[in-house]
Amino acid sequence: MSYHFAHLPGDLAAHQAEFRQQLTALLTDESDWLANLANTASLLSLQLDRINWVGFYLVRGHDLVLGPFIGKPACTRIAWGRGVCGTAAARGETLVVPNVHQFPGHIACDAASSSEIVVPLWAGGQVVGVLDVDSPHMDRFGDDERRYLEEVAGLIAPYAARGRGRS
Ligand code: SME
Repeated sequence: MSYHFAHLPGDLAAHQAEFRQQLTALLTDESDWLANLANTASLLSLQLDRINWVGFYLVRGHDLVLGPFIGKPACTRIAWGRGVCGTAAARGETLVVPNVHQFPGHIACDAASSSEIVVPLWAGGQVVGVLDVDSPHMDRFGDDERRYLEEVAGLIAPYAARGRGRS
């Protein structure tokens, strides 16, 4: 099967239904957790403009371990409760950080990152990972992005759960 995903920059709200459809199509075609997380990271990198990193960290023991992503190489392991990712995971809630330089404990993987959103992945009543998106622009993530990424998180979480605790 081949995919034709045009980059549709700009108005996320206007394209959200189409974006959702693209993601659902990807996830329907395949049940493997790793393939689906990898393709979801890729799809989000095309759907969202003005970002420099998008990907997953998965809960493994007391840490979050790097999963599929698009962007520069990133830190591989984040302790539970540390950084934006570990804090969002521990709180079990989305964190929108307009200026990462003002977030105590922010972990700078890419020096270009200025703002960030981290959405926990819930499955079986537990946080099994997070979806993390970074932008080189301040205050890049608003309500539209939050709404869409939380929806994406809900769709991908069952797959992330299968990757949790992998060896
Ligand atoms: N900034 C994150 C670390 C992950 S990178 O952004 C890819 C944090 O503070 O948890």
